[in-house]
Amino acid sequence: MPGLGAVATTFIAGVMAIRKEIERPIGSLTQMGTIRLGKRTDKRFPLIKDFVELTDLNEMVFGGWDIFDDNVYNSALNAGVLNKDLLDEVKQEIEPITPMKAVFDQNYVKKLHGEHVKKADTKYDYAHMLIEDIQKFKAENDCDRIAMIWCASTEIFMKPNPVHETIESFEKAMKENHPAIAPSMIYAYASIAAGVPFANGAPNLTVDIPAMVEFARQEEVPIAGKDFKTGQTLMKTILAPGFKARLIGLNGWFSTNILGNRDGEVLDDPESFKTKEESKLGVLEYILQPEVYPDLYKNLYHKVRINYYPPRGDNKEGWDNIDIFGWLGYPMQIKIDFLCRDSILAAPIVLDLALFLDLAQRSGMKGIQEWLSFYFKSPMCAPELYPEHDLFIQLMKLKNTLRFIKGEDLITHLGLEYYD
Ligand SMILES: NC(=O)c1ccc[n+]([C@@H]2O[C@H](COP(=O)([O-])OP(=O)(O)OC[C@H]3O[C@@H](n4cnc5c(N)ncnc54)[C@H](O)[C@@H]3O)[C@@H](O)[C@H]2O)c1
Repeated sequence: MPGLGAVATTFIAGVMAIRKEIERPIGSLTQMGTIRLGKRTDKRFPLIKDFVELTDLNEMVFGGWDIFDDNVYNSALNAGVLNKDLLDEVKQEIEPITPMKAVFDQNYVKKLHGEHVKKADTKYDYAHMLIEDIQKFKAENDCDRIAMIWCASTEIFMKPNPVHETIESFEKAMKENHPAIAPSMIYAYASIAAGVPFANGAPNLTVDIPAMVEFARQEEVPIAGKDFKTGQTLMKTILAPGFKARLIGLNGWFSTNILGNRDGEVLDDPESFKTKEESKLGVLEYILQPEVYPDLYKNLYHKVRINYYPPRGDNKEGWDNIDIFGWLGYPMQIKIDFLCRDSILAAPIVLDLALFLDLAQRSGMKGIQEWLSFYFKSPMCAPELYPEHDLFIQLMKLKNTLRFIKGEDLITHLGLEYYD
């Protein structure tokens, strides 16, 4: 993992606690989810982890890069997500995990300054240093396979640039230290070049550019992104499909948050916030389809605010005011006050992505993994498609992909056969 901050350390410490049977893997589809196979009358509902061959938690090892040299125990204490008593129970396992030196450039994350960083002349050289790190980690830990999940800070907002078009132009730009190549792209390039599947947990552009998509297909590496779907956006993708299903209109959706972790501090910079804002705003537009339902959604006013407020730490509070209207246009309001723990919601996503990406690679899948949209605020998809944001469609797509991988019948929920 690039970035051993709140999310990554909550994930690693959590897996260790689950291995020791101190805790249960709550929130993880790969560990607790089931899948229906065949007809309802067949009564086949195995656990997903018994249906597809997923790596066992006991066989996983963890590593990462960070611009600070804290080990995972200290970084987790700093993040303040998990309590010290729990961390002490897994201290022996997580204290030895120390970050490798990062590829970092403050121009892309204005609020951070770290010393634990690599030094090289070109971005291309940095990529090769990361490839060496991956190979060394693999050899030292005797790993058969690896997956990389970006858990580092949100970078500034970047638009696609002509150098992102092809692998050749991208590599040339790396050699010329072009500003359109952000550190996250260097990690992604290194990951794909090393044959390692890559997922992007932040809203950065990173692999969502033609050069990386082409490179991933060429190297037969699965990629996915972007921005873990947790907190307020998770709530939006649960509620909005419900409103649309019942043809309830929406005039406005105002979302505001206070949070005080390092992620909040990074997002206090307007350029990093812009990246996050774009990722959060797209969701309603795609789910509600105002062009198909103009009477219900064409006047929707959607606003998202994130406010850095240190006293809250990782325990964010998110408020939503939703102005809806029903029969004859009569207005109603819904208020949500979500006292949420961001990293607690994100950690099982990191686990599932690592396991599913590895499964995808072993199943011969490459390039964009749209079936993993379930986990992302801004799901990547083929250029001619619009992204699928509805959580329930995303789950159906994910489970049907697992059925497809195993040669089982896909489930359409038609069900007429039960009444013949
Ligand atoms: N917590 C959530 O629920 C959630 C949801 C969606 C997305 N995300 C994204 O996940 C990422 C991690 O969130 P977090 O709460 O753990 O943040 P965090 O600030 O606690 O951790 C990020 C870590 O990345 C490190 N870092 C920054 N740039 C780096 C680089 N170039 N190389 C290596 N390390 C680098 C930082 O030093 C820090 O330790 C953020 O981008 C955040 O926006 C988080």
